[in-house]
Amino acid sequence: MSTTTSTDHHVKTLGVLGAGQMGGGIAQVSAMAGLTVRVFDAFPGAIDKCKAVHAKSLAKLVEKGKLSQEAATAASGRISFVNTLDALTGCDWLVEAVIEDVKIKKDLLSKLAAMYPDESVVLATNTSSISITDLATAAGKTAHRVVGMHFFNPVPLMQLVEVIPAMQTTPQVIDRTIALATAMGKTPLRANDRAGFISNRVLMPMINEAFYAWMEGVAEPEAIDGIMKLGCNFPMGPLRLADFIGLDTCCHIMNVLADGLNNDRYRPCPLLKQLVTAGRLGDKTGRGVYAYPSK
Ligand code: CAA
Repeated sequence: MSTTTSTDHHVKTLGVLGAGQMGGGIAQVSAMAGLTVRVFDAFPGAIDKCKAVHAKSLAKLVEKGKLSQEAATAASGRISFVNTLDALTGCDWLVEAVIEDVKIKKDLLSKLAAMYPDESVVLATNTSSISITDLATAAGKTAHRVVGMHFFNPVPLMQLVEVIPAMQTTPQVIDRTIALATAMGKTPLRANDRAGFISNRVLMPMINEAFYAWMEGVAEPEAIDGIMKLGCNFPMGPLRLADFIGLDTCCHIMNVLADGLNNDRYRPCPLLKQLVTAGRLGDKTGRGVYAYPSK
């Protein structure tokens, strides 16, 4: 299937909801692509952290010769931060990247649909596994402008945007999403709205299986990861990647797969659940499968 389209995305000012790892990354690549970006987050701490991550990432891209200093400075200058939803007025495309909680996402989408009566403003969601069709219902009569735009971490380095139309999404919105992702320098690929889409339908059971292999004593984490890295050319082994994603997120996505596909074989491995219970969530807590003393 072709991944490009001649349809223009018609976006000048992009609003990003959530200044976390994903929202921050989406804002950065959008600004690098020349869009004006406004990032909303209600927590000042999140905004400060996001600014620091942008500075570090842009400096790294300059250091590696992937971006000129002028382009990095210009990209930075195109991003502003706001702490009220009203301050997003005037954006012509919104991407929400808030916490993976159906209720929170639906409340937000329903507010945005009411605040933006202009139906040409697309409401994109960066969910990694929640049903887009379900989220779209929150936009009521304008459910057709809701679409899944799933980015991957670290956003500035990862090539893919998984594009997931809701059952209600119009072909025009899908084409514009593909055009926008392409303009961001990404490769958009389409998946249908089934639990986990493609990325997490395939990735998460593999990660879960790595936890089973560890739990059953087939090998220690270093060997499991080493075997998958050296034998399959993975940049990170599945257990290292689980730490990078967050063990709580992995657990959550496995439960979404089990519920959505009506099959308990997708339930999270008991050892994975136990690590989460112990607060060992991965990089973000300094310990998961492995320890990260510097974090
Ligand atoms: N911006 C700019 N530069 C960055 C960066 C960022 N955000 N993150 C890392 N880098 C830099 C590093 O600092 C490093 O620079 P140096 O070489 O100067 O140290 C460089 O990129 C390469 O990093 P690494 O040395 O760590 O080497 P790497 O070749 O392993 O690349 C990686 C890092 C791209 C993260 C690679 O390990 C990788 O592809 N890992 C797999 C990531 C993955 O699978 N992501 C998807 C997770 S799933 C998801 O996001 C969706 C979901 O729904 C759960």
